[in-house]
Amino acid sequence: MKIRVGVVGAGIYGSVLINAYYGAHRRGDIEFVAVADISSDALAKIDKKYGIKGYLDYKEMYEKEHLDAVAIVTPDFLHEACVIDAANSGIHILVQKPLSTDIGAAERMIKAAKDNDVMLYVDFHKRFDPGHMHLRKAVKDKKLGEIEYGYVCMEDKILVPTEWFKSWAHNSSPVWFLGVHFFDLIYWILEEKPVRVYATGHKKKLASLGIDSYDSIQAKFEFPSGATVSIDSSWIIPNSFSSVVNQQIRLVGTDGMQEVDSQDRGVVAVFGSDDYSHVINPYGQLQVDDIDAGSVPTGYTIESMLYFLRLVNKMKRDNLTPITLQADYPTGDQALVSTIMCSKVHESVEKGKVLEITY
Ligand SMILES: NC(=O)c1ccc[n+]([C@@H]2O[C@H](COP(=O)([O-])OP(=O)(O)OC[C@H]3O[C@@H](n4cnc5c(N)ncnc54)[C@H](O)[C@@H]3O)[C@@H](O)[C@H]2O)c1
Repeated sequence: MKIRVGVVGAGIYGSVLINAYYGAHRRGDIEFVAVADISSDALAKIDKKYGIKGYLDYKEMYEKEHLDAVAIVTPDFLHEACVIDAANSGIHILVQKPLSTDIGAAERMIKAAKDNDVMLYVDFHKRFDPGHMHLRKAVKDKKLGEIEYGYVCMEDKILVPTEWFKSWAHNSSPVWFLGVHFFDLIYWILEEKPVRVYATGHKKKLASLGIDSYDSIQAKFEFPSGATVSIDSSWIIPNSFSSVVNQQIRLVGTDGMQEVDSQDRGVVAVFGSDDYSHVINPYGQLQVDDIDAGSVPTGYTIESMLYFLRLVNKMKRDNLTPITLQADYPTGDQALVSTIMCSKVHESVEKGKVLEITY
């Protein structure tokens, strides 16, 4: 029998996930049964586009729909209740990054998932980018020798905090919303947790627009091996930039160096309708025609979402528990590391000090 799947949150990224899960439904991999959102407008759009049943109260969806799995795509600071209620209903969970903007809430979610023996999968799609997978393997195979230092940037256009998430940008930050992707990635690639951090931040541009959130935060992490990695997170890049997001990573070791430019994949487009050119990353997300399912999305951001469904299918088919698969996905425990990193970065900015990080 196919797994029954629901989604909580049908906003900007929820719509991307719903499109991905509708593709899985049309391929016959899952039964996509319902979507919950507190906005009736959001539900009406989903109903019109896909004909999927909507609930204004996610708890009612959990109670009535006998779900095997749910994806939580609510704002950064609103994951906890949806996750804990799903865990207590015995439903496997994909939750968007960051797991939480609060360490205590993250720990409560992890405990609820463990207590109920359900999967808590955090959607860290950077782990699914082939460029990052290649970099991780090169580091693992010691192709770069001992890693000495590295550099990362992840920056969004200013439309993200001022237009897309104007209502909750003050409850998040460029670190919680963006940096966390690469905090997790660096931890995943180096396979060690940082022990020290120093960070600086600025509140200028967004403050001038009436939004109380950091514009940018620069953090330098030190790892037990001695490697240091500097990570810039920002969401004030002018809207005339050629992509919504700019992102790069480079690592340098005793015997090599590797860089992944995750923004510029060499695909440039100029359309008469726009007054700037576009640098496109078709490997992240692309709508394609599937021979069986028609128009469906693909790309590494989608792969990450679909992988969760494959794991739940596997657990059901082979009668497995999440603990038997924990080496194969971004678990709640792993996401706690990046949650602590984000939290310490903010504390370092506020105190103006180098801080030790313990887990
Ligand atoms: N992985 C990525 O690249 C990526 C990109 C964008 C956003 N995200 C993450 O996805 C999450 C959602 O972001 P978004 O862009 O969709 O935000 P959004 O503000 O566009 O949408 C959030 C939706 O959640 C709904 N919601 C809020 N509380 C709810 C509740 N209790 N029950 C049901 N619905 C509720 C809102 O009505 C809204 O429709 C965030 O955690 C964000 O960081 C991830």
